[in-house]
Amino acid sequence: MKVNIIGCGSIGAELATALEKMDDIDAIYISDKRKEKVKELIESSTKIRYQREPKDVMERVDMVIEAASQDAARKYVPMALEKGKDVLMMSVGALVDDEFRAKCRLVAKKNKCRLYIPSGALAGIDGLAAASCGRIDEVLLISYKPPEAFKGVRYLEDRRVDLDSLERATIIFEGHARDAVRYFPRNINVAATVSLAGIGFEKTKVRLVADPSARRNTHRLIVKGEIGEIEVSCRNLPSPSNPKTSLLAALSVISAVKKAKENVWVGA
Ligand SMILES: NC(=O)c1ccc[n+]([C@@H]2O[C@H](COP(=O)([O-])OP(=O)(O)OC[C@H]3O[C@@H](n4cnc5c(N)ncnc54)[C@H](O)[C@@H]3O)[C@@H](O)[C@H]2O)c1
Repeated sequence: MKVNIIGCGSIGAELATALEKMDDIDAIYISDKRKEKVKELIESSTKIRYQREPKDVMERVDMVIEAASQDAARKYVPMALEKGKDVLMMSVGALVDDEFRAKCRLVAKKNKCRLYIPSGALAGIDGLAAASCGRIDEVLLISYKPPEAFKGVRYLEDRRVDLDSLERATIIFEGHARDAVRYFPRNINVAATVSLAGIGFEKTKVRLVADPSARRNTHRLIVKGEIGEIEVSCRNLPSPSNPKTSLLAALSVISAVKKAKENVWVGA
């Protein structure tokens, strides 16, 4: 199996290193607009090659993995699906755009390929998806992060929220998932994944908390409905190479690639 990973940041690099050790992976083409990010990986590998432009290699691979940015997802995900390639997409926030989501679905269907959305930095997506086959009354996602995680967010600057002066845990956003994804695009991919697995962007409620005492990124998923209640809490440690990304998110892509090439799925 040959893959093209777009984005050699904390997720892309972690994934490439893991895939390199798998016997049934023959070649890993990794694309990043900054070549220096890939240098170290290529030097220590026989399977990993640098390919500046993903479209030059897409024909040759079996799967394309986007781990770069929402812009990259908008550009390359439909391109790969159009070529009939299975795609695994990490910048899930891009799917908040209804037109883009519908286009991806249509192109994948037409070309008989699949778009995989890994569970990312959250557990419980399986239970939520199962519960949503019945009646759901409420889905609430509460994310607690250190204030630094929200630095540079325009929504907070416009409201003059001074993150440096927070002395206790403070709710900085409360609303539906569509707005959470729009205003906090780097922080809240999980809200998009929860919405897609459950009851959609308008009905999914999101609360974001900046907590100066937080040492981890914590996500609590609460689902209420005819199944009773699901409550899942993940207290995530950051990825060693990028404090903004949870290690669980990087590992979820590795697990998703393994699942995609297996004939037996556990927890499908
Ligand atoms: N689904 C989830 O739960 C989840 C969790 C964490 C991160 N993410 C998302 O996954 C993506 C990658 O995360 P990361 O932590 O590895 O980020 P990162 O910043 O560590 O790495 C991103 C890499 O992609 C490269 N890149 C950006 N745009 C590109 C483009 N158009 N073409 C080629 N290369 C490009 C950058 O140079 C960088 O090396 C981000 O969009 C992030 O928001 C999703």
